[in-house]
Amino acid sequence: MTVAAKNIPITVFRTPSEMQAWSRDRRREGKTIGCVPTMGALHDGHLSLIRASAAGCDETIVTIFVNPTQFGPDEDLGKYPRDEASDLKLAVAAGATSAYCPAVEVMYPENSSVHVVEVNISTGLCGESRPFHFRGVTTVVSKLFNACLPDRAYFGMKDYQQLLVLRRMVRDLDFLLEIVGCPIVREPDGLAMSSRNKYLTDKARVDALCLRKGLDIAEQAFENGIRDPKVIGEMVRDSIKQVESAEIDYIECRDAEDLSEIETIENPAVVALAVTIGKTRLIDNTVLSPDKERKDV
Ligand code: PAJ
Repeated sequence: MTVAAKNIPITVFRTPSEMQAWSRDRRREGKTIGCVPTMGALHDGHLSLIRASAAGCDETIVTIFVNPTQFGPDEDLGKYPRDEASDLKLAVAAGATSAYCPAVEVMYPENSSVHVVEVNISTGLCGESRPFHFRGVTTVVSKLFNACLPDRAYFGMKDYQQLLVLRRMVRDLDFLLEIVGCPIVREPDGLAMSSRNKYLTDKARVDALCLRKGLDIAEQAFENGIRDPKVIGEMVRDSIKQVESAEIDYIECRDAEDLSEIETIENPAVVALAVTIGKTRLIDNTVLSPDKERKDV
């Protein structure tokens, strides 16, 4: 059943068939549809995606679903922040014209037994410490696409590996849509916005700046002509290690297109890292582009 949220001017769909019916009607009217998948707890990073979609498409569907299959057994599924009414208000203000918020039982009926798995780009980095994470992401995003039937779907470069995995999925499975990657939105002091920043204590919030500082060092080293990904990685590591509460999961400098390992930076490379501060695991990245450097000269 379609439920209009209390006092919020947006229609919320809770089943795939209702969502599909709405999208089909909009398509018949010749409208383009943008989709912004989220797990809620919306912040300016999410809202930048909604704004980008609203600027580029006639209709924008925000999806809000805390997807249990992408959380590991010891992760924060239970305490993940949830506030649908407040999220819907923010989404409408940013330009969303409808919302898809299915319950877990609707998304995953009993006996669900089909997964979508990417086996290359998803294996290293976050895939190593979170073994079933990307399988959960590719499966749920496929289902969100099948419900929303978008022309374009907007994802943040904050989750760089996720963006590449989803691009590959769309290419390899012939989804009829375009994936649009959007820049990382940061707090004024440089911390990448994340729903998980809410977990940080005051001290951890300060310590968390070591991620951005590490990436600054990588960018500086690259500007100074260093092209060895291992050397750049070590410089970042040395900087982050100075913060006592920081536990490094990984720091990798890889090819920016497919995350393959590289000997030297000749093409765009991404420096991606995951660091746990206190109990909160944070990720961030920056792209080093040889072209960008030439422009500066
Ligand atoms: P979530 O973490 O809620 O993020 C939703 C989208 O917002 C992702 O595309 C993410 O990259 C983007 N985003 C988050 N922080 C951002 C920031 N600081 N700047 C720019 N974009 C940012 O990613 C997920 O949810 C889930 O895995 C999902 C794709 C919804 C599947 O469940």
